[in-house]
Amino acid sequence: MGRVCCEVMAPAKINLGLQVIGRRPDGYHDILTTFVAINLYDHLIFTRRIAGGVSLEAVNPDRDRGGTQGFPIGEDNLIMRAVRLVERETELHADLLISVRKQIPIAAGLGGGSSDAAATLLGLKHLYDLPVSERKLADWAVRLGSDVPFFLNSWAAEGRGRGEKLRPIRLFRDWWVLMVTPRIFLSAKDVYEGLDLTYGAGAADFSGCRDRGSFLAALRRAHNDLESVVIRRIPEVQQWRDRLRKIGAENVFVSGSGPTAFGVFLNRPTEGAVQLLRKAGMLSQVIMARPVDTPTALVVL
Ligand code: C5P
Repeated sequence: MGRVCCEVMAPAKINLGLQVIGRRPDGYHDILTTFVAINLYDHLIFTRRIAGGVSLEAVNPDRDRGGTQGFPIGEDNLIMRAVRLVERETELHADLLISVRKQIPIAAGLGGGSSDAAATLLGLKHLYDLPVSERKLADWAVRLGSDVPFFLNSWAAEGRGRGEKLRPIRLFRDWWVLMVTPRIFLSAKDVYEGLDLTYGAGAADFSGCRDRGSFLAALRRAHNDLESVVIRRIPEVQQWRDRLRKIGAENVFVSGSGPTAFGVFLNRPTEGAVQLLRKAGMLSQVIMARPVDTPTALVVL
């Protein structure tokens, strides 16, 4: 029978460097990256009902942080695709209202859609008491998107393959991220295809970086190969990089295939510095966050 209602918190992720190793016959690229979950969350509330099928609604009291502009509530939303996949695979017929409070900027390189999809798989498993193994969940996750499996894994993980081959790592966690997301849409496909594959600086290896010193050394070596393409498409990303460095970021990256740029800070950026960034970027979202040690938290109402 399962439960009537549950809430799942779906965190964003950042990539501490991303190396594109090569193009694959299936159109994807093999990559090497370090994923870290951060405390910027979408909240999903699943409520069962007697009939009516599945509907998705966005509730956005906080327009400044993500809002719901550009958030599709139709069948192409990854949440709906996750529901349909579970229905097909388990012969479940779901009657559900899914309410989403979106805080993660959309199509920003922060994994919001992927995290929502992972949260949906977990939410449905819980709600309907589905006897699904972790292995099966991971298999469903990768069918929904390359980044989805990470959100079922450890809070920090090395990702290979399309990003779905994950190895949890122990990582120093006492740092802050300051993110700037320009409100310009970039397609991941376009960014990957714009990359000149003869160039590749290489992602740094963060495994075993449990203390401040080794973390900082890896951080300084890390690089995202996709960054040059993102900057070509959206030159202002370079200005954001410069501004983040100026206010003390140890290093600055583009997350995933962008367009979010973020700085990593070992000391909390001051409110004044954050306000200055906000002033400079009226058309961008500026958000501060920290790593979290739970990739997906499940709260049962
Ligand atoms: O897997 P996902 O649907 O999130 O990927 C979106 C697009 O990004 C893919 O269609 C592909 O063009 C590109 N991509 C890639 N290699 C990856 C991940 C994504 O080429 N490892």
